[in-house]
Amino acid sequence: MNRSRRPPLVDSSLALLAKGYAWLPDRRRSTGPVVRARLMGQETVALHGPEAVRFFYDERHVERGTALPGPVLSTLFGHGAVHTLDGRAHRVRKEMFLSLLTGPEAVAGLVACVTRAWDETVRSWSGRRVVLFDEASRVITRGVCQWAGIPLDDAHSLARHLVAMVDGFATPGPRHWQARRARARSEAWLGRLVEDVRAGAATAPDGSALDEVARHRDADGRLLDPHTAAVELLNVIRPTVAVCWFVSYAGHALCLRPELRDRLGDDDPAYAVAFAHELRRFYPFAPFLGGRAVTDLEWRGEPIPAGTLILLDLYGQNHDPALWEDPYTFEPQRFVERPPERDELVPQGGGDRAHGHRCPGEDVTVALLSALVPRLARLEYHVPEQDLRIPLHRMPARVRSGFVIEDARVPA
Ligand code: HEM
Repeated sequence: MNRSRRPPLVDSSLALLAKGYAWLPDRRRSTGPVVRARLMGQETVALHGPEAVRFFYDERHVERGTALPGPVLSTLFGHGAVHTLDGRAHRVRKEMFLSLLTGPEAVAGLVACVTRAWDETVRSWSGRRVVLFDEASRVITRGVCQWAGIPLDDAHSLARHLVAMVDGFATPGPRHWQARRARARSEAWLGRLVEDVRAGAATAPDGSALDEVARHRDADGRLLDPHTAAVELLNVIRPTVAVCWFVSYAGHALCLRPELRDRLGDDDPAYAVAFAHELRRFYPFAPFLGGRAVTDLEWRGEPIPAGTLILLDLYGQNHDPALWEDPYTFEPQRFVERPPERDELVPQGGGDRAHGHRCPGEDVTVALLSALVPRLARLEYHVPEQDLRIPLHRMPARVRSGFVIEDARVPA
């Protein structure tokens, strides 16, 4: 075997934890488009670029079932989640998400609930110092739960739990244990709710996410067990609330490029969508995806033995100078001039969402940002001295201060 193709002996897990988003792009710059590494003791190959996206999303090449590490399932996605299914089992479960989350009516309904919650809340910011990340997480929690038919007593604590599940998935420290606790509590609560709905002890509005998940039958024709139903309800509300990461990134972007506020305030929906795409491209969130080689494979002449862990580099691709002019400049105009290609802009995965694992919440994400960011841009506020750094070694990254604003006022 060629020397560069030998699986490395030294494990890179600690280097990945230490370098975060920079680990894979750095390795790629030194070794070329195929990176070989050992992660958590496993032989790993990382691929990059639109062609690699198509290779990775071909089910004859890569399966997901055994690729996601237990700690990621116990925090971010949940055991038994759609993310871990393959073949027909995946397609049947995925169809449930697509019918809930795609199509203009579904998206508009969710956006209406969230924007109502936002419009009600911003008035209470006047004369206060608020952390945009935290406020956005609560606003979205209220909106998405109303839309999903999930009764909500305490938006503050649910928002905290949902954020914790995302915040703690890629660290062995206290954030991880907080994430596990948040997931265990939320799964227990939603599992009971699903049982109550099925027993007629609670009502779920017709066609709501709660109703659809409670009634969904998997490929084997059976209802989801209450735990899996809770996991999948969380897979609707948790990532919707995670859009708060991008709302606070939007505050960051508007602070660094204040001239973009006027353009966003112009009521130009196409520009708002372009801004949402640029937020998703530019700012760090999902670093890469993981799958496993189904059989012995070859990628650009490089052998990939069956069972190898295959990573698809998302953050690196979204900043690849071969795909993006001035990739480290925040410039929404690039998407006004040229809408994103399916396998080029990949913050939420690539390929075809109906057949592969691409995020079914992409339309929702773009629509929420296109509605919330112009509202933020029209708001008058003061940005006090604060730590606006976004350290790339922290996964998931976030603005250190959460983006603090003061004296926010809705203009007359
Ligand atoms: C899958 C990112 C918002 C629901 C994914 C994947 C990524 C991602 C990277 C994995 C794709 C793959 O494995 O191939 C994001 C980001 C979001 C976001 C960065 C914005 C904060 C949403 C929203 C929803 C959602 C709003 C639902 C309302 C899901 C589900 C999957 C998924 C259910 C699993 C799909 C499958 O395995 O087939 N997302 N997502 N996401 N996302 Fe999102």
